[in-house]
Amino acid sequence: MSKKVLVTRIIPNIAEDLLKQAGLAVTVWPGDKSMTKEELVQHAQKVNALLSLSSNKLDRPFFETCKHLDIVSQFAVGFDNIDVGAATDFKIPVCNTPDVLSAATADVAFGLLIAVSRKMFYNHKLILQGEWKQFEPLKNLGFELTGKTLGIFGLGRIGSIMAQRCKGAYGMNVIYHNRSRNAYAEKETGAQYVDFDTLLRESDILSVHSALTPQTKGLFDKHVFSKMKKTSVFINTARGGIHNETDLIEALQNQTIWGAGLDVTNPEPMLANNPLLDMPNVAVLPHIGSATLEARTGMARLAAENIISFYQNGKPITIVNPDVLS
Ligand code: GLV
Repeated sequence: MSKKVLVTRIIPNIAEDLLKQAGLAVTVWPGDKSMTKEELVQHAQKVNALLSLSSNKLDRPFFETCKHLDIVSQFAVGFDNIDVGAATDFKIPVCNTPDVLSAATADVAFGLLIAVSRKMFYNHKLILQGEWKQFEPLKNLGFELTGKTLGIFGLGRIGSIMAQRCKGAYGMNVIYHNRSRNAYAEKETGAQYVDFDTLLRESDILSVHSALTPQTKGLFDKHVFSKMKKTSVFINTARGGIHNETDLIEALQNQTIWGAGLDVTNPEPMLANNPLLDMPNVAVLPHIGSATLEARTGMARLAAENIISFYQNGKPITIVNPDVLS
């Protein structure tokens, strides 16, 4: 009997097509809403493999109930919604979709940077409010990016592309901080490794590209913002949980830092009355890092191929807990 796969949300068709071509029986959860916890547990019990989204909370109780699953393949590069330790305890491989969305996500970080430095979202709002009356020699001035220092927190695939974009377009000096040095990315981007305090002290723009882990959760708080330059811009396109949003609002209101660009917020979705949305030096987007046709198609393909490769060769392509295979 063919193995059954549950896809927890409608994603680009290529996933279903590839899974079916490989002889798997596919159910795609219909509709435009994430499955509830109860629906997920109930339907996951009837299948062998799960193609999940980051809106699905796959915690230890989930894996205790669904320990029969052969594989969980996530349609995202981030997997902080999944208790990988619990999956590993039950010998369930967990996969993600790196690389295919890196350029798209770096573009959002790069776009936010330009938007913040020139107060673009705010100026757009002024037009909507009928406030574009005349040329203003002194109002709403931004700053230029040429020659500035870009600090990358988390120099991996996405951070490296952001570094290359900023170097190529603006000749920026790039510094970075990671848990451990990334010699390959240093060579690719010319980025220079610094300790965390130096990153905070020297960055004109600090862009976050790390995973959300117990070590990075809430890391960017009032204490950290107070160590940054008063003229600096904080960019987060990784996970909202990495910054403390109340502290960020305060840091911007008190002019502890100059501006912020966010594609991820804490919590998500952001409420329409969030004070960040009224600040001239802030640009916020609703978590659209991977929202290009190319990236979403690549994610759907890779998420399906991970399941197919697991069933055909015993080895997914991009697995986050490879120990389960040994
Ligand atoms: C998006 O946030 C992802 O993790 O792919």
